[in-house]
Amino acid sequence: MGTWQWGDTKYWKYGRVHGRKDVEAAFSAARDAGCTLFDTAELYGRGESERILGPLARASRGTVVATKYWPSPRRLRATSVDDAIDRSLARLGVDTIDLYQIHWPMSLIPHGRLAEALARAVRDRRVRAVGVSNFTARAMRRMHARLADLGVPLASNQVEFSLLRRAPESNGVLRACQELNVTLLAYSPLAQGMLAGNYHFGSRPGDGRRWSPRFRDKGYESAGPVVDTLIKMAERHDCEPAQVALAWLLRHPGVVVIPGAKYAEQARTNAAAVEVTLTPDDERELHIKTEKFRYGSLLARPFMG
Ligand SMILES: NC(=O)c1ccc[n+]([C@@H]2O[C@H](COP(=O)([O-])OP(=O)(O)OC[C@H]3O[C@@H](n4cnc5c(N)ncnc54)[C@H](OP(=O)(O)O)[C@@H]3O)[C@@H](O)[C@H]2O)c1
Repeated sequence: MGTWQWGDTKYWKYGRVHGRKDVEAAFSAARDAGCTLFDTAELYGRGESERILGPLARASRGTVVATKYWPSPRRLRATSVDDAIDRSLARLGVDTIDLYQIHWPMSLIPHGRLAEALARAVRDRRVRAVGVSNFTARAMRRMHARLADLGVPLASNQVEFSLLRRAPESNGVLRACQELNVTLLAYSPLAQGMLAGNYHFGSRPGDGRRWSPRFRDKGYESAGPVVDTLIKMAERHDCEPAQVALAWLLRHPGVVVIPGAKYAEQARTNAAAVEVTLTPDDERELHIKTEKFRYGSLLARPFMG
């Protein structure tokens, strides 16, 4: 489960409609439904997401916490990674972070130095496993090799992957993950809620998404046929469109989805997606309807995983 929505007042407008009670209920519902992995970042709500998640995770045995280091251009020394880890540990209130990820490949600290800092953190037991995020296939292969030289496996690459962004299938990231036994953590698996079928022309979300091209007229026009297909398919399976979108991702070996949820009901619905089985006909239909989303934007292609 993703927790960017928890404590983030800027983009997700935490505190306006959804708040602490809602996200705590979402956590409990997710845990009750068997969800174990919770993804956060030092960036989310300037650490507030970690502050909210920490006590919940500590009180619920078996919760796995993944957080992330932000390679800000102000961070010029590898010791920034150690400082960031210490701050995340303090906000989460734990001695060890289960999965520590480099949020973004663009970094003024060379990747080799980042790898050394991550390996040091694993040796010191401040971090259990390390991952990357938004890394291209090439960058992740190089990071995998660097870490392997230091005796540390690369556990994951977190990239945007959904029916409206199928680039990991065509840009080599999915293949590289499967080949190297690296888990692909699919972020924005519901295209920030678009694939749940609640947004249409004239019903733009009241938060930061309203500035996203996906939630403007052209975006609706482009996603409309996919959302309609999901709604019809969900009716046939007696489930929710969001569950069909997640079930489609889960059929890829080595892919774990981290849908963000603000409410208990959303968390329950998303967790139950594992029970939805798509037929070969469903898969064919989704494949055809989303063919144009197989390739990332030309501009982002060389940089984004
Ligand atoms: N590494 C990165 O660079 C990166 C980037 C983005 C996200 N992430 C991670 O990935 C997680 C998930 O991505 P995301 O939050 O961007 O997008 P997402 O999971 O695709 O969409 C989340 C939004 O969809 C709506 N939703 C969720 N479940 C629903 C359901 N069952 N029925 C109806 N609506 C539902 C909710 O918004 P409404 O109720 O308001 O519609 C929710 O805020 C984040 O929380 C974060 O942990 C990582």
